[in-house]
Amino acid sequence: MCGIIGFSGTENAVPKLMQGLSALEYRGYDSAGVAYFENGSLRFVKEKGRLDKLQSKINAVGVFDTTCGIGHTRWATHGAPSDVNSHPHGTENVLIVHNGIIENYAQIKSFLISKGYVFKSDTDTETAAKLIDYHFTEIGEPIEAVRKALNTIEGSYAVAALFSGHEGKIFAFRKDNPLIAAPSLDGSFITSDISAVLKFTNKYYEISEGEIAVADKDGITFVSSEGNIVQKELQTALWSVDKTEKCGFEHFMIKEIHEEPEALVRTLSPLVYEGNIAVGDLKDDDLRQFEKIHIVACGTAYHAGLIGKVAIESLARLNVNVYYASEFRYINPILGENDLVIAISQSGETADTLAALRLAKLKGVRTLAIVNNEGSALAREAYSVFYTKAGPEISVASTKAYHVQLGALYLIALKFAGIKGTLAADEISRLTHALVNDVPDKIRETLDHKSHCEYVAKKYMNVKNMFFIGRGVDRAQCEEAALKVKEISYIHCEAYAAGELKHGTISLIEDGTPVVAIITSMTTADKMISNIEEVKARGARVILFVTEGLSIPSGIANDIIYLSKTEEIFMPFICGTSTQLMAYYMSLNLGHDVDKPRNLAKSVTVE
Ligand code: G6P
Repeated sequence: MCGIIGFSGTENAVPKLMQGLSALEYRGYDSAGVAYFENGSLRFVKEKGRLDKLQSKINAVGVFDTTCGIGHTRWATHGAPSDVNSHPHGTENVLIVHNGIIENYAQIKSFLISKGYVFKSDTDTETAAKLIDYHFTEIGEPIEAVRKALNTIEGSYAVAALFSGHEGKIFAFRKDNPLIAAPSLDGSFITSDISAVLKFTNKYYEISEGEIAVADKDGITFVSSEGNIVQKELQTALWSVDKTEKCGFEHFMIKEIHEEPEALVRTLSPLVYEGNIAVGDLKDDDLRQFEKIHIVACGTAYHAGLIGKVAIESLARLNVNVYYASEFRYINPILGENDLVIAISQSGETADTLAALRLAKLKGVRTLAIVNNEGSALAREAYSVFYTKAGPEISVASTKAYHVQLGALYLIALKFAGIKGTLAADEISRLTHALVNDVPDKIRETLDHKSHCEYVAKKYMNVKNMFFIGRGVDRAQCEEAALKVKEISYIHCEAYAAGELKHGTISLIEDGTPVVAIITSMTTADKMISNIEEVKARGARVILFVTEGLSIPSGIANDIIYLSKTEEIFMPFICGTSTQLMAYYMSLNLGHDVDKPRNLAKSVTVE
């Protein structure tokens, strides 16, 4: 979703802002803009559409000589994507860029209208900007003006602001939305996402809620809510800039699929030593108490949770519920004192997942976050953290982050199996060894044979609908495979429990309808073959993803993708990579914007 970049330094700010905005593109956006000082006055340029349109407008306006500015990529919430709704917003005295939602914008707007303010946009942000302007006009000083405005503003925000009369300074503050301040050799950055500044610096300060950061060419100062200067510890980002570049691949998505084996090893190997497994920072005594697990997550992370349920229930015989995080708060979940809530998120910023975690905490239940983004809100707020080490994931469609989430959940399952005594120690160590060694090798093998996935993708990419069928864990895999195709190819896909098809959906199968069948589970293979026969009898064209060596009747499918064989329980890694490749090649050959699919955002920071 929205992204913020700000720079104040000794060099021209606009190219730096544009590079920062370009690094933020992956989050998903529909418009962009910059604000800056020019000869002491506040100016802005903003435009609906991609960054090249904004750059053309900047070139036409001729913005060359400014060393301080802020920039924004917007993903519309209040008000349609348009030039006027794009950020920055404000007045000739105050301009702001904002991520988040101002919940009481309507009251603020009527108050300001009564004071003579006129509104140009449909955004909630404009009301915040003008409220700050109102207090700035009254008080004449930015920090106090912001404080006064924040007393009224309700909602979530990360804001960077420029004030007339304070040339060269960026004021930044946040609540429930990430924002950091990053010093570099040529000046100071403000950003909502470290990836935006990794080209220039890997050092940053966290901006705490209640603080106001003031960044200028000489450094960054933090002012507490009591008005005191706060000394902060400089942090070092673990991510490096090469992880935010394509490194010769055509798209981030295909690059990130290729990073899956390495990401898995990086995540899991440090946690497995001398027959012991560490689950994030959870102690064995903590784990022993848990009687039930509740997983909350969204999108692909939710699908990882579905596979995690199968793994934990079958290996450790521990009951697991999986919830869409967006539903969790509205179903009055039954949570016991010996329950563990696991929140899974790549970004650690997803508003629904954060809200679900907060509810669990409110109910006094222990929480574990499986999260990829260090220092993110979810990681900060959870009782314990299991960091996945996928590195930055830029493509909106999640691939390597899904694989490391699966890795974390399997390791948790194996750990619980040991604690609960449901598997013998040598079996746990055999499976753990396979997870850390054989699975990455078999993913590499899958990548070596990607051309077959491309062939199948090209053959079916022009269809309007597809069905995905499987049983048990394969059904959960169907959900993720169907989501991948939907997200980036815009083909309508439906994932279905194969046995359930004949209770309704089979009426939609007609001559030529493509049906993807997944078989990695021996126990359901025979039943799946009958289900495939049922759809074939109605004219379906069948694409079968099946573990190599599994016996299937000849002629059962129109196309078969054989999955490199590893331990049966770990087959979702291999099938996951293959179906991601199929989705990638469909989108690529259809000519879609693979990494930035329409309407989607990488991290969804609104509920
Ligand atoms: C968005 C993205 C999905 C992602 C989901 C959850 O919808 O488009 O790819 O799976 O958010 O994101 P998270 O960062 O919480 O894993």
